[in-house]
Amino acid sequence: MKEISFKGKVVVITGAASGIGLKTSQEFVRLGATVIMCDVNEVSLQKESSGLGSAAVAKAGDVRDFGYALSVAAEAERMGGADYLVACAGGYEARCCKSMVPFYEQPVEVIDWGLDVNLKGPVYFSRALMPQMVAKRSGVIILLGSVTGFEGDGVGAMYGTAKSGLFNFVKGLAMAGAPHGVRAVCITPGPVLTRADMSLMPTLMGRAAETREIVDVIFFMCSDNASFITGTNHIVDGGRLCMYQKTY
Ligand SMILES: NC(=O)c1ccc[n+]([C@@H]2O[C@H](COP(=O)([O-])OP(=O)(O)OC[C@H]3O[C@@H](n4cnc5c(N)ncnc54)[C@H](O)[C@@H]3O)[C@@H](O)[C@H]2O)c1
Repeated sequence: MKEISFKGKVVVITGAASGIGLKTSQEFVRLGATVIMCDVNEVSLQKESSGLGSAAVAKAGDVRDFGYALSVAAEAERMGGADYLVACAGGYEARCCKSMVPFYEQPVEVIDWGLDVNLKGPVYFSRALMPQMVAKRSGVIILLGSVTGFEGDGVGAMYGTAKSGLFNFVKGLAMAGAPHGVRAVCITPGPVLTRADMSLMPTLMGRAAETREIVDVIFFMCSDNASFITGTNHIVDGGRLCMYQKTY
């Protein structure tokens, strides 16, 4: 196992003000990287990034806006170009937009939010940052899927739809990136304790993941220990998806 160090690396993390994105930002700084922390929640972003000192730069904005992705890419370019993108910004539209009704009653704004944040956001940031990785002939793009991308959901139907889109998008990224030394990996969690109520989601292991258990996989995938892994989706769900396979 190679020692993991990210000294001198430039990392862009979306959804960095909270949960998996925040813990990933903190760990990258601890391991020597400079991190551009991106999030629409400006207040939390400022608070969390200032706690990380000069190795963290806060860039507030909405991942649904391609202009925002380009402005983050310009900032990364000034730092020497992005080495890693970790696209964490996302959420279950029914909860985030406070619209817990069946899909057939969802306002189109909620439907758009679910698709745009969870699918277009990672697409826009990959499109904006990948040229820098291609120019450097190295880099890793990490997408965050969800087991809902396999299971479906009748209320927040766009969440799973968008996440399953990422299972395919990661392949396209890998195909475009492989000739230039750029890898892409999708990590697909089951329930993660970024919110206490995630402990209610069943898994074979009888618990939800600690945030660290997802972040550790992100770091493995970014490191040279994963140098032959690209274009694949990695389920980290405590066995949740197995629970539905045995029907007798
Ligand atoms: N927590 C879980 O149980 C779980 C399970 C499976 C997948 N995931 C995925 O992991 C990723 C991170 O989840 P988390 O639990 O850390 O979530 P979180 O809610 O703690 O953090 C998500 C962050 O994204 C930001 N965000 C939301 N919309 C945005 C937008 N339009 N532009 C910019 N930033 C925006 C939020 O402000 C928030 O800080 C998400 O993509 C989520 O779908 C989480």
